[in-house]
Amino acid sequence: MKPTGRSVGSILSSPRVRRVQRTLHNFQVTIICMFVTVLVLRGLVGGGRFGTPGQDLEELRNHLPSMAHRDRASRSMMEYQADGEEVPDPSSVGPETELDQGPVRSRYFDPKLQHHFLGEQIVDWDDQRAAFFKKQKKSNLTANGKPRILLVSGSQPKPCDNPMGDYLILKNLKNKVDYCRLHDIEIFYNMAHLDKEMSGFWAKLPLLRMLLLSHPEVEWIWWMDSDAFFTDMKFELPMEKYENYNMVLHGWYDMVYQSRSWVGLNTGSFLIRNCQWSLDILDAWAPYGPLGKARTEGGKLLTKYLDGRPEFEADDQSALIYLLLSQKEKWAEKTYLESSYFLHGYWVILVESFEKLMEKYHPGLGDERWPFVTHFVGCKPCHGNAGDYTAERCTKQMERAFNFADNQILKTYGYVHHDLESHSVKKVVESASNWRNPSGLINPVDQPRLLRGRHHLITLD
Ligand SMILES: *[C@@H]1O[C@H](CO)[C@@H](O)[C@H](O)[C@H]1NC(C)=O
Repeated sequence: MKPTGRSVGSILSSPRVRRVQRTLHNFQVTIICMFVTVLVLRGLVGGGRFGTPGQDLEELRNHLPSMAHRDRASRSMMEYQADGEEVPDPSSVGPETELDQGPVRSRYFDPKLQHHFLGEQIVDWDDQRAAFFKKQKKSNLTANGKPRILLVSGSQPKPCDNPMGDYLILKNLKNKVDYCRLHDIEIFYNMAHLDKEMSGFWAKLPLLRMLLLSHPEVEWIWWMDSDAFFTDMKFELPMEKYENYNMVLHGWYDMVYQSRSWVGLNTGSFLIRNCQWSLDILDAWAPYGPLGKARTEGGKLLTKYLDGRPEFEADDQSALIYLLLSQKEKWAEKTYLESSYFLHGYWVILVESFEKLMEKYHPGLGDERWPFVTHFVGCKPCHGNAGDYTAERCTKQMERAFNFADNQILKTYGYVHHDLESHSVKKVVESASNWRNPSGLINPVDQPRLLRGRHHLITLD
């Protein structure tokens, strides 16, 4: 499953790869020249006129027609912008590049090498899956006629450094179990390191691939970080909307494709369809992940291309944005960027207003009136204070988000938390024993159809 020394070695020594490496080196030099040029221009022309790389390029072409490297610089950049290939055509490499016979700089660049990271390449998954359905007489739909979804999450195999972290992870898991139970979604929670090289935020890639292949009956896998909480227990994903897409993430088209913002989308909560396209994008995505050179060099590349990205090793989110930008024609068409509700919602802008929302609105809206998912980006509950926010603030707000969601569950049984900061609960006015359906039975509350039906006493409102 892992790349062996021999296979990588033999691929690396092929003439084409050497050509590509030279090209890449050349391309890197070009980009550095571009970067320096842009810095100089910013000084000359004034920074205010520069915003996007496209504008920079325009200025560059207008102002410095005789600059050394101009031709190749603008051509490479335009190629990058126009057709999105980050690997320039090897035939455009001039003779001066013969000088570079250096070692491989970044194996993540060569599309030929991509398939070694997550396992043997599979090319006929759609056919295999169709054969499976035919033979097993199974369906990718649930009993309710909705596409089968498997929610996947996970956390580290070891106990957290900060014991509070394990407690918050347990609460998060309960939160996910509650949502999935109510909405006919299956759940898989992973605590095993499947691939030592693909650690940290990259661990989801081998896991998703394994689950896509092992669960052909599942139509969608929904990845959700262990620091993302469902805060609207009633809201349902509008799956009809995604019929023609293979991946759904929270994000904004302009921020990704125009601003190249590294926060233009979020990979903390996203859907990926079980199909060949998804195996392919995982293959294209994975090469930035392996620990060591690939990840550190990848990080530099991503910081260079994406707006606002600090210097750090390659992360899955930046790498996906880079893929969408650099191979737009391959991936963009099937990738839906959702912003009409919070498939992922940044906790900092949401958690303070929960009480106000409770006064004015009700679950089922999913947007800023009642956020569907509240994601604790930048909190590292398992690692004490290592995150961007204090452990104290993160813990307090996670508990509030949990209780906000838990109230929606407890209410169906006749209870509610005293307040969002309290573990303890109180009975709501009608006691649970008063809630009887017409046949005199206590209303069964844990059946999704009953909860959603208009004619039943107990709803998630
Ligand atoms: C179920 O699978 C078939 C074949 O892969 C596909 O065409 C169809 O869109 C899937 N249904 C849903 C609801 O996703």
